[in-house]
Amino acid sequence: MGSHADFMAENGLYPRTRNLQKGAHVIVCGNEKGGTGKTTTSMHIAVSLLKSGFKVASIDLDSRQQSLTRYVQNRRAWAQSNNFVLELPNHYRFDSSSLDSVIESQSNDFSKFVRAVSEVEKEHDFVVIDTPGSDHFLMRLAHSMADTLITPLNDSFIDFDVLGRVDPDTHEILEVSHYAVMVREARRQRRSTDDGLLDWVVVRNRLSPLASRNQQNLLACVHQLAPRLGFRIADGISERMIFREYFPKGLTALDDLQAVNMGERQTTSHASARAEIGRLLRALRLPINEDGRRRAEYRKMWLENANREVELPDIFAD
Ligand SMILES: Nc1ncnc2c1ncn2[C@@H]1O[C@H](COP(=O)(O)OP(=O)(O)O)[C@@H](O)[C@H]1O
Ligand SMILES: [Mg+2]
Repeated sequence: MGSHADFMAENGLYPRTRNLQKGAHVIVCGNEKGGTGKTTTSMHIAVSLLKSGFKVASIDLDSRQQSLTRYVQNRRAWAQSNNFVLELPNHYRFDSSSLDSVIESQSNDFSKFVRAVSEVEKEHDFVVIDTPGSDHFLMRLAHSMADTLITPLNDSFIDFDVLGRVDPDTHEILEVSHYAVMVREARRQRRSTDDGLLDWVVVRNRLSPLASRNQQNLLACVHQLAPRLGFRIADGISERMIFREYFPKGLTALDDLQAVNMGERQTTSHASARAEIGRLLRALRLPINEDGRRRAEYRKMWLENANREVELPDIFAD
């Protein structure tokens, strides 16, 4: 893993990457590629868990695009201006340091991030971390802190390439790619730090409704690679307008759009979108025990009975 890992190890940083007293379950959406649906998935997972009554924190590590931050901000602003109660995660935006010295800046970012995660994980049931589509050391660190890693994959061999290279004729796996190697390293680090296991789930995203030969070939390759890399495969998510059109309002396919969207009708696509997210959540097999379920039930009731005042968590940068 080269100099970053060395740098962290030299600075004695790995043993402190995770709070040993087990706090929140950390879900990371990661893929070393932009535009695969990490932010969309992060938001839908976070809102889905919130709607089930869990306490959820979200962390945006994509300091360049900050799409998840904007998604949450849009949701907060829209709820406020329409006087509507909408579930909001406690959101943390992570601004990378812009110090001159790379080493100093990394060390700063590193401890800021570790502090942020250890703080939030005490107070929440789940922490959802959205990562940038680039090989940044914080992205690697987030992967090594994950309990569950979700990798959305567009239904294309260009996207598959971040996991493995295939023979153009036989579709046999020729080589495991860089991102997969990075996840393997993150797993190793996680195990040596607190004996934790990283559950890796790959989900194909933006599936076309028409099953094509490409779709079948790709799925076959994903199945071939799964046991080699140790990931599970969740049912895919379809390409649907509803997954992207409500970003400016901060709404998701999980919201009751009929209620919040001034009379807009629920469509069958909406119901199917919800069902797909529901299936993904179930496929994640998150550790939700009886206590957690009970707490979640109380919070849900509280939220449903709350007057129309919206609880507004602060969005802060450090
Ligand atoms: N299932 C989907 N159906 C339709 N559009 C989608 C879907 N998933 C993602 N998108 C859109 O694809 C683009 C990339 O998604 P995004 O979540 O921003 O990816 P990433 O965070 O990996 O860069 C965005 O325009 C988003 O609205
Ligand atoms: Mg993104």
